[in-house]
This record gives sequence, C-alpha cells and structure tokens, in this order.
Amino acid sequence: MDLNGKQISDNSAKVLLITGETDVSASIPTALAMRAIRCLDPESAHRLAIRLLKSGLVPESSHTGIGAGNVHRVWGKLFPSPLGIAAGFDKDGEVMGPLLRLGAGFVEIGAVTPLPQPGNPRPRVFRLIEDEAVINRYGFNSQGHDAVSRRLATFRTYSRHADGIVGVNLGINKEENDPVEAYRRGVIAFYDIADFLTINVSSPNTPGLRDLQQEELLANIAETSHKTIQELGSTVPLLVKLSPDLADDAADRIVRQLTDAAIVDGWIVSNTTVTRPNGLRSRYAKEQGGLSGTPLRQRSTELIRLVYQASSGAPIIGAGGVDSADAALEKVKAGAALVQIYSALVFAGPGLLNQIDQELMQLLANQGFSQLADAIGADHRH
Ligand code: FNR
Repeated sequence: MDLNGKQISDNSAKVLLITGETDVSASIPTALAMRAIRCLDPESAHRLAIRLLKSGLVPESSHTGIGAGNVHRVWGKLFPSPLGIAAGFDKDGEVMGPLLRLGAGFVEIGAVTPLPQPGNPRPRVFRLIEDEAVINRYGFNSQGHDAVSRRLATFRTYSRHADGIVGVNLGINKEENDPVEAYRRGVIAFYDIADFLTINVSSPNTPGLRDLQQEELLANIAETSHKTIQELGSTVPLLVKLSPDLADDAADRIVRQLTDAAIVDGWIVSNTTVTRPNGLRSRYAKEQGGLSGTPLRQRSTELIRLVYQASSGAPIIGAGGVDSADAALEKVKAGAALVQIYSALVFAGPGLLNQIDQELMQLLANQGFSQLADAIGADHRH
C-alpha cells in the first residue's frame, strides 16, 4: 500500500522515486536501508532512486498495456503505452532502459542544457505531502549536450530497449544570451537519436526563459529549429512545452501562429506553475519554484482543451496531476494523444505506471471506446 491506501501492483519495482513515503519493502535489501530512505530529503531520495534504477534492481513489467491487441501510433511511432515519464526525472538520460522496463510507454529525458551547469543551490525540491504536490526550483541542473547525447547514442546502440521511445527536453544555460542558437544546437546534438525534441520555454526556474513564449521570439526559435531539422534531412517531431500560467488568449495566439506556420508537430501541456492555488496546506507551499501534482490537474486539462482547438487537433502530450486512469482519460478526452506523469510517482511509487495503464484500458472499454485513439479529443465532439 502507498501512503494514500492505494494498492500498488505486485510487479512494480519497489524502488522509490523522489519520496521516502513509498512502500519499498519487497525489493530493497534491508529494513535499515528503507528507514534511511524515508529520512532522506527529496533530492537525495531522487538521486538514490536513479542509483537503484541504474543498479538493475528493476523487475520487467509484465503488463500488456495498450499493446494487447491495440496499437497506439503518434507521429507514426508505436507507443506500447500512452503513459510516459515527464521531463525532469531522468535529466541526464541515466535510466532510460530501466524506466521503459518498468512499463513506461516512453521517457522524456532532460531538460538538457548546451553546457553542463549545476542548477540552483539546495534545497531546491520539496514534497507537499498534504497537497499531493511537488515544488521544484532545480534550475536546469544538467550534464550538458555532449555527455547526454553520448549516453543516448550508446543506449541506441547497446541497450535491450534501444528502440524504446525517448524524447529529449531542450533547455538553455542560465547565462545564455542567444536562445535561438542554443535550441538549434540542441536539435543538432539530438536529432538523429531522439524520438521527439521538446523546446522547453516554460520552466519557471531559469530567469527570463518563460519570456521566450512571447509570440515573435518563440516563432523565431521554433522556425530556426524546424529549418535545422529539415536541413539535416530529419523528420524528428518538434514539440513546444507550454506553461500553465499563460493567459488563455496568449496561448491561443501562440498555438495558432505556430500551427499556421506548420513548424511544430505537437505540444506538451503543461509545465509546472508559479501560481499557488488556494487551499494548499503544506508548510512548503510558499517555497519558490514550479508547483506540480494534483493542484495543477485542472488548469493543465483546461489548457489542453484550448491547445487542441487552436491547433486543429495536433498531437498533445498532457501532463499535470495525472495520478489515476481517471485523470489520464480526462486529459485524453480534452485532447491529449499521450500522457506524462511525474509528481504522482513521488507519492505512489512506480507501480502506479502499470496500474494506470491497466485501469485506463478498462475505463476506455466502460465508456464505450474501442481504442484510445477514439477517446482523443472526445470532449470536443459533444
Ligand atoms: C519537472 N518538470 C520539468 N519539465 C521540463 O520541461 N523540464 C524539466 O527539466 C523539468 N524538471 C522537473 C523537475 C521536477 C522535480 C518536477 C516535479 C517537474 C515538469 C514536469 O515535466 C511536468 O510537466 C510537471 O511536473 C507536471 O506533471 P506532474 O508532475 O503533475 O505529473
């Protein structure tokens, strides 16, 4: 059982992600180690989770997911499950194989910055347990393009999961003064080894980054990146990840403009919010940074609905407060073709991946959808 009394499936790797709150009794060698983990601050727990995943203590997922008779294709790629790991967990591409092995349908690594950088001083991540939320201000700690692209290239050559779907979230360095060029370099570093590239202009922890969502700037970044992909003879899908803090009319304009120009292939909606919805109870609620998890769920779904309409149905990856099949289907019906998860794993553990995947198939059937594709954007067809 996890903290909230939810059953965690047996085939889950009982390793914890950021949290010390997960029941890890089955697979972590000693009770002592478990107690130590529970005492860890969130960042140390995150590091330990990466180390455990790396160490191979991860059982193979036995779930059949959407692969059971169904195929889910987006951008011509076959997704074994519509549920992926959002950017920010595997920032440096250290545990792509283990995450896919656990049952993630896809993994978005990064944000990766052109040059290595340490990010903000610690503490920079907080669990808001009472609110089922996380606040982070990591500030793009990254090993940089060279190290991460080498790791991904090695993965593509040697891993058992080499053909798993891995996208790369592109960030920029704190001191960057030519963001257009920084994203272009990201494209060049990853176009031939990534399944999709995300222009991340929506993380709140790099000063000025979200200003790049201004229409002209973003159009310039996206156009240059798009042109570079074409010049390289590549068809790698180019996505833009949006902030939930954009006003609706601004989001609408951005999406319509880039859709009309045909320079992006999809959207990720959404990143974390700097707003603090009423009713947060945790003592960490006032920490600076981006808030994710349950309090983000509604706004991100609203924005998905808007983007789906403004983009005339372009593929959207929905993220924000997905913690159940119900929450995942809400995003799909609003317009998401795929869904990502991060914060809920902090509280429920990685078994949640398979659980949601299985329950989602059931929920789809109960609601009369024969396949996931039929549910995408269903809210708009009433
Ligand atoms: C994130 N997120 C994030 N997003 C991104 O585009 N680049 C990044 O580097 C990060 N880093 C990051 C770190 C941490 C600790 C968290 C919790 C989140 C945002 C993430 O990908 C996702 O968009 C949001 O967290 C919303 O999903 P959840 O967490 O509510 O499922």
